[in-house]
Amino acid sequence: MTLHSRITGTGSHLPPRRVTNADLVAQLAEGGIETSDQWIVERTGIRARHFAADGVQCSDMALDAARHALKAAGRDASELDLIIVATSTPDMVFPSTACILQNKLGANGCPAFDVQAVCSGFVYALTVADAMVRAGSARCALVVGSEVFSRLLDFSDRTTCVLFGDGAGAVVLEASETPGILASDLHADGKHVGILCVPGHVAGGVASGDPFLKMDGQAVFKLAVGLLEKSARATLEKAGIEAADVDWMVPHQANIRIMQSTARKLHLPMEKVVVTVDQHGNTSAASIPLALDHAVRAGQVQPGQTVLLEGVGGGFTWGSVLLKM
Ligand code: ACO
Repeated sequence: MTLHSRITGTGSHLPPRRVTNADLVAQLAEGGIETSDQWIVERTGIRARHFAADGVQCSDMALDAARHALKAAGRDASELDLIIVATSTPDMVFPSTACILQNKLGANGCPAFDVQAVCSGFVYALTVADAMVRAGSARCALVVGSEVFSRLLDFSDRTTCVLFGDGAGAVVLEASETPGILASDLHADGKHVGILCVPGHVAGGVASGDPFLKMDGQAVFKLAVGLLEKSARATLEKAGIEAADVDWMVPHQANIRIMQSTARKLHLPMEKVVVTVDQHGNTSAASIPLALDHAVRAGQVQPGQTVLLEGVGGGFTWGSVLLKM
């Protein structure tokens, strides 16, 4: 019998501190930086984001999201036999945030590792977990995206600091006789490193250099729309499913205009697109599982429906996953 993997539970976490555009406008004004609610909404669709309190780590948010996902799946952490965390803002250089999360969950013993593909991280992590489940090396996996992106922001750079937020999302992915994950498609092209990066680095064991996010927004925008359409079409073709048969698209929540353009190219009405960027901003690897969990809990995404996940991020990395809930 062919083994499949299927999502059996979702969960998420948002830090309690909600920062509206008006809050951010006032905060930036103190540093002499001018922006406006109107500019942010018109260019990005973002109205608010959440920022983690000082001292809150990536693994803390991952833990809360994981607990909600485990509860929804009716599983105990002790039943996990694989943990993958997608993040670009780990607690430490090492060990991995997945190991730290594993210990906080009390799931010690199972393999645990991080995936670093920036905003495509969750799509990458889910694809790896699916492959491991289908290969028979895991039966109950936890896949998390968690980010404290606020720590990478230069609040004197208005072109980037208004775009991002913090949060976490998680899914429990289990071995199943019926198909859940139907197909996926992953890519990277390292020649685009310079258009979206945090150039700080570890050299001789010491973290040094510029710790803040740098982005050529227009270059990212142009690349993103074309690559997302191509990847989505490749995944649909692998699964033998037409775009018209997709019930929901849950895109990486970077910018409403990128989501609208991708939906338009795939001839998907915006009513089929899960949108949380307005309330969460761009939470990088957390954004897809966070949006998925919100849509599941709001009763939008229903069991049995066909869902297309797609993401693009620094690297450049991009990819998509088609699944049945
Ligand atoms: N408030 C007010 N004005 C601003 C702000 C701001 N926060 N930021 C920039 N501006 C100004 C610029 O200075 C510029 O002014 P000028 O015309 O006088 O020079 C003007 O607004 C237009 O700037 P553009 O950069 O041309 O604005 P654009 O329409 O391209 O929007 C944006 C910028 C929102 C960044 C857009 O390019 C975008 O969304 N790009 C994709 C970003 C993205 O998705 N990144 C995430 C990828 S995932 C990951 O891996 C992290």
